[in-house]
Amino acid sequence: MAPMNGNNVVVSKMKLERMLSMKGGKGEASYANNSQAQAQHARSMLHLLRETLDGVELRSPEFPFVVADLGCSCGSNTIYMVEVIIKHMAERYEAAAAGGSTAAPEFSAYFSDLPSNDFNTLFQLLPPFGEATMEECLASGTGHSHRSYFAAGVPGSFYRRLFPANTVDVFYSAFSLHWLSQVPEVVSDKRSVAYNKGRIFIHRANEYTVNAYKKQYQTDLTGFLRARSKEIRRGGSMFLVSLGRTCSDPTDQGGAGLLFATHFQDAWDDLVQEGLITSEKRDNFNIPVYAASLDEFKEIVETEGSFVINKLEVFRGGSPLVVDHPDDAAEIGQALATTCRSVSGVLVDAHIGDHLSDVLFSRVASRGTRNANELKEKLQFSHIVASLSLPN
Ligand SMILES: C[S@@+](CC[C@H](N)C(=O)[O-])C[C@H]1O[C@@H](n2cnc3c(N)ncnc32)[C@H](O)[C@@H]1O
Repeated sequence: MAPMNGNNVVVSKMKLERMLSMKGGKGEASYANNSQAQAQHARSMLHLLRETLDGVELRSPEFPFVVADLGCSCGSNTIYMVEVIIKHMAERYEAAAAGGSTAAPEFSAYFSDLPSNDFNTLFQLLPPFGEATMEECLASGTGHSHRSYFAAGVPGSFYRRLFPANTVDVFYSAFSLHWLSQVPEVVSDKRSVAYNKGRIFIHRANEYTVNAYKKQYQTDLTGFLRARSKEIRRGGSMFLVSLGRTCSDPTDQGGAGLLFATHFQDAWDDLVQEGLITSEKRDNFNIPVYAASLDEFKEIVETEGSFVINKLEVFRGGSPLVVDHPDDAAEIGQALATTCRSVSGVLVDAHIGDHLSDVLFSRVASRGTRNANELKEKLQFSHIVASLSLPN
């Protein structure tokens, strides 16, 4: 649960790792109810995921086959993707067994996220293990009647070690690695040239601010790769999807820029102009997200040196706004506000308190409604999709 006092929260590394989460529970602005866009984007990349899985080595059935989803959050997307991975691998084992080769091992899945993630909601969505009774099927609330794998939650930051050495066959991570471990300290330091005055995100910010974010991304991704290189089994693979940008200039953060630095940014300015918060309060809030370019991502992987790149591309994801009536401006405005709130609401609540957070997101909705046509046309996400493995 985020701190409720709304006092200035200087988001240090430890603080962010303790408080960052998508909005938990099953309410209107919860991640569980606002992750259909991510579900659609992930499904459009299934062919790339399956390609990665085809390259994973089948090992002897003596040990369980281990899948880990990093940044799993608390919706049903993670359960769906873990099931896709396990089903695909089970089919490969079955085909190999028919040819007289290895029998299938047992499967084990780790759902990993920061400790503040709503693991309770996630676990309640998990179908029961083994053959389910009719009552259990109905209670699980998912389309799946039973679970063919062992499940466990792993709390911790993926920028550090999470698993014992040589234990994980497949790492999957979607829409998570663009979250930095912290807002770089200089960005919230009034004396620094990198102080992000007048803004809450780095889109169109000054070069010092942007460079501080870029450096943080380099440090974080390097830490991520180093930790995974210890944990992954030889012959295993890693499939990563994160927000990316097509423009080489990092001050243009693409879809993330439009999401966080237009109507959301203007809504913060509304609060300042209405005297509800000071400009300094706004300036001390920064979204810890960095959408990298393909070249930046590639350079970090190559410099860190543990993994070889089997596939790397920018994939056009589509809009993060899912609406039933695309011509209904108010619905688009509300979708913008709930999308922003489901991913950044916990941080906003901690910074300005629940009441002002309600006011802020209602301003986002009105601004979004007034600009619905532009949002429909221009708010599009691009994702970096990477398939990595250890060298042979
Ligand atoms: C947008 S959600 C992605 C959820 C899910 N993978 C999906 O496909 O719907 C991003 C998740 O990344 C998690 N996250 C951000 N930084 C993290 C870190 N350092 N370590 C672990 N998880 C992190 C957040 O808590 C959040 O649950």
